[in-house]
Amino acid sequence: MHKSVGEHMNILVLHGPNLNLLGTREPGIYGVDTLETINEGLRDLAQELGCTVAIVQSNHEGTLVDAIQGALGMAEGILINPAAYTHTSIAIRDALAAVSLPTVEVHLSNIHRREEFRSHSFIAPVTEGQITGFGRDSYLLGLRAVFSLVKKRLSGEPGCDT
Ligand code: DQA
Repeated sequence: MHKSVGEHMNILVLHGPNLNLLGTREPGIYGVDTLETINEGLRDLAQELGCTVAIVQSNHEGTLVDAIQGALGMAEGILINPAAYTHTSIAIRDALAAVSLPTVEVHLSNIHRREEFRSHSFIAPVTEGQITGFGRDSYLLGLRAVFSLVKKRLSGEPGCDT
């Protein structure tokens, strides 16, 4: 069910495995912000933009798949940091393709300048784009991107590849 311009917009935010440990997990790579700090920043930005966020963190692939399937009818867009599942999960990719909501992939670290296995994303081809390497700001930039994509879609404006 799609909403029209002016109706309330909800964005599903998904955090993948080990992101619950942010703050203490390899701070030299992921920074010192905790997941709760990041979520607070997202809620504040959502309020400023005039939308809401529903936030889920899980260490389990199937739970993330269920949350993506559950987005239909409850969210208009998806912001996802699939974490390690970025590099392994066809199930998450297929779920995103199935619901076909405007989706942006984010990463705290720059996955293209780390180990080679991290530079491949199974998820990126089914998203509108990827924001990687800006720490906590990757999420904030990503939320702005999803918000703007959904607004354009609701008002019938063409996207970048149309
Ligand atoms: C990450 C990058 C992934 O390669 C890694 O497995 C993560 C976090 C990031 O946000 O930088 O868990 O998605």
